[in-house]
Amino acid sequence: MNINGKHYRTVWVAENGYTVEILDQTKLPFELEVIQLTSMKLAATAIREMWVRGAPLIGVVAAYGMALGMKEDQSDEHLQACYNVLIETRPTAINLKWALDRTFRVIKKTPIEQRQSIAYLLAAEIADEDVKLCESIGEHGLEIIKQIAAKKAVGEPVNILTHCNAGWLATVDWGTAISPIYKAHEAGINVHVWVDETRPRNQGLLTSFELGSHGVPHTLIADNVGGHLMQHGEVDLCIVGTDRTTAKGDVCNKIGTYLKALAAKDNNVPFYVALPSPTIDFTVYDGVKEIPIEQRSGEEQSHVFGIDPDGKRSWVNTAPKGTKCGNYAFDVTPSKYITGLITERGICDATEEALSAMFADLKEPEMA
Ligand code: MRU
Repeated sequence: MNINGKHYRTVWVAENGYTVEILDQTKLPFELEVIQLTSMKLAATAIREMWVRGAPLIGVVAAYGMALGMKEDQSDEHLQACYNVLIETRPTAINLKWALDRTFRVIKKTPIEQRQSIAYLLAAEIADEDVKLCESIGEHGLEIIKQIAAKKAVGEPVNILTHCNAGWLATVDWGTAISPIYKAHEAGINVHVWVDETRPRNQGLLTSFELGSHGVPHTLIADNVGGHLMQHGEVDLCIVGTDRTTAKGDVCNKIGTYLKALAAKDNNVPFYVALPSPTIDFTVYDGVKEIPIEQRSGEEQSHVFGIDPDGKRSWVNTAPKGTKCGNYAFDVTPSKYITGLITERGICDATEEALSAMFADLKEPEMA
């Protein structure tokens, strides 16, 4: 999508053919900076430190991390070592494992001297696929927004609440939850987005930045506002992303998603989750019991980034010195609270039956 009228993806290969370039998401929305990833270890750091984030993008950068690793050493030992380092970077988003498993399987079967070139081709293929999947999600989700718009009085916007950043910055392009919103905006539908700030990492600022760059009307709100807006008829639907979707349709997404789903249920607001199929983990059934929830440094809770009066980006402490902070990065929304799953193949119920029927071909992972 565009920033200042220029089209960007979140990750690409530099002109030298091997350095991987990313937008530094720790600097956004205040500064637009490109970071060059020149080694597998740097790709791992980029994922762990959230220079890149969002489940689909994490998977793509991991695939490029494997390619960088193969440039360093194409041996079986190094292939396994790269996998082991990258898989440890973040525990919750299943796209990471999906991309690493796919890459490992292909590279293992590839003659040693071709591994580097095949790994780069495969990473590019995974990136291009992500763009297609996300654009299709947008087209399917657009139908939901159209139906709601059709019932509105002329000039009245469709109000959509979203949590975290599930826009193009969380993927390679388009986004998951935000893709239908871009499609609706392109189609001339009057949409307005309530953007949850999403403490502690403030991914909502990325969402505001994206939507602002595209001229999509939106309002940034504190994380606790959504329930109040729903009680007062100010939200027509919620759309969020997911980092892992279980076989029965539970979704694990950014911390706070669950509370939005509860408020939506209580107020009869449709609650949709947008996902590309690599986010489905058919090996997991009960999301609350089985999905590992990442816990990050307490400093992310006690501190916040902002721009000081001199225009400098500052990391400011907001908590009493020495306060113990809990920083749980994700929570699970049980499938019973989800109106529907917006996938690249269409919209389905958040149930085991519906997911199995729509993705029967993906249920058995390909063996090495
Ligand atoms: O910790 P993050 O910023 O990587 O978490 C991202 C999210 O929770 C998104 O909502 C999720 O990855 C789905 S998005 C495309």
